[in-house]
Amino acid sequence: IADIKGGESEGLDKLGQTLTVRGWVRTLRVQSSVTFIEVNDGSCISNMQCVIDSDAEGYDQVESGLITTGASVCVQGVVVPSQGKKQKIELKISKLVTVGKSDPSFPIQKKKVTREFLRSKAHLRPRTNTFGAVARVRNALAYATHKFFQENGFVWVASPIITASDCEGAGEQFCVTTLIPSTKEAIDSPVDAIPRTKNGLIDWSQDFFEKPAFLTVSGQLNGETYATALSDVYTFGPTFRAENSNTSRHLAEFWMIEPELAFADLNDDMACATAYLQYVVKHVLENCKEDMDFFNNWIEKGIIDRLSDVVEKSFVRMTYTDAVELLLKSKKKFEFPDIKAFYMRLNDDGKTVAAMDMLVPRVGELIGGSQREERLDYLETRLDELKLNKESFWWYLDLRRYGTVPHAGFGLGFERLVQFATGIDNIRDTIPFPRAPGSAEF
Ligand code: 4AD
Ligand code: MG
Repeated sequence: IADIKGGESEGLDKLGQTLTVRGWVRTLRVQSSVTFIEVNDGSCISNMQCVIDSDAEGYDQVESGLITTGASVCVQGVVVPSQGKKQKIELKISKLVTVGKSDPSFPIQKKKVTREFLRSKAHLRPRTNTFGAVARVRNALAYATHKFFQENGFVWVASPIITASDCEGAGEQFCVTTLIPSTKEAIDSPVDAIPRTKNGLIDWSQDFFEKPAFLTVSGQLNGETYATALSDVYTFGPTFRAENSNTSRHLAEFWMIEPELAFADLNDDMACATAYLQYVVKHVLENCKEDMDFFNNWIEKGIIDRLSDVVEKSFVRMTYTDAVELLLKSKKKFEFPDIKAFYMRLNDDGKTVAAMDMLVPRVGELIGGSQREERLDYLETRLDELKLNKESFWWYLDLRRYGTVPHAGFGLGFERLVQFATGIDNIRDTIPFPRAPGSAEF
């Protein structure tokens, strides 16, 4: 349908052509002389309005009640001008085939359903305008992400999902273990199922990985290993955090984009983050016009202007000290953030680190990044201070031992970017199958 109706003429260039459309029935309107079937195939917001007369092949399916909301159909017909105001063209059906009928219990009917209700129908919600548009814009953002980094000479690196290191040191990792076999007996009585040594300690030698392993919270450390060999690299993959925050900005499973720049400092890092965001936002404004108009009309009034500003205006840079001063003056309640991660480079003042966050309206923290501590002695001291086990970071320390370089990078939460670019207020509506405390269905 996007192919037919997209472009300047909104389909008028196809007049007279015989075309086939496959999709799902959105609505059926039976009028005295004609019947209208609105078909959507997920390629765009627009439906294809199809008109069927009683003499068309397959009209009996309308009469017998087969054509209902949710049914999948294949329609063949001639493109004709439409009398309606909503579209320039419609399809005059010559042949109608029901591919799969839809049970009357189909839960997504025309009446407005809440996004909260749709979260319980994650398998069917992509058939709505909102979730169809979110899926397409998410896809465009992913495409633009690869395009931006590829055009700028970055190499995509696959970071592992299972790892023994805790990059952020916040203790938010999900443990992956085969120590508890997934049998019913073991699940009913996991404490008895865990193998123990003679001393009563957990016997990790019997685990698949022979040590505690976790779902990754960040691909950064792995990214650093490749940046110190291939120069600029980026990762783009799923990451996991077991933080029990039931908020509209946190997921237990989210995708992160993590570029790592070699021979670079914090300024280069900030420049890269800014250029990246402007590039992907511009891409979406230029390539997802219909979906963005939809968000502008129905989700967040003014979002297109807000995003255009992002592309055109420069970003305000503010130091940590200035931000604290501003907050103190505002008399708003706020907490001083906790200790920074072990890998961040110590500044010359010996107190602060070379780190940055990018904050955006409505979402808050979109990006967190830093220049990494490239000096072996400083890094070892820092690991000691935080009482982290130096031995387990032997490979990370090797990167400083053999040809270390100043390097910097950042992590961008992809779902927060989708929130920012669509105006969707809850992060659970930006990913097809959200994982959050107490929810891992589908
Ligand atoms: O600020 P964070 O914790 O930084 C890192 O993980 C660094 N290792 C990144 C790096 O320098 N390579 O996380 C980065 C971003 C945040 O700014 C936020 O956008 C997103 O990841 N994020 C989450 N998004 C959704 N749900 C969560 N629970 C998130 N936690 C972080
Ligand atoms: Mg952060």
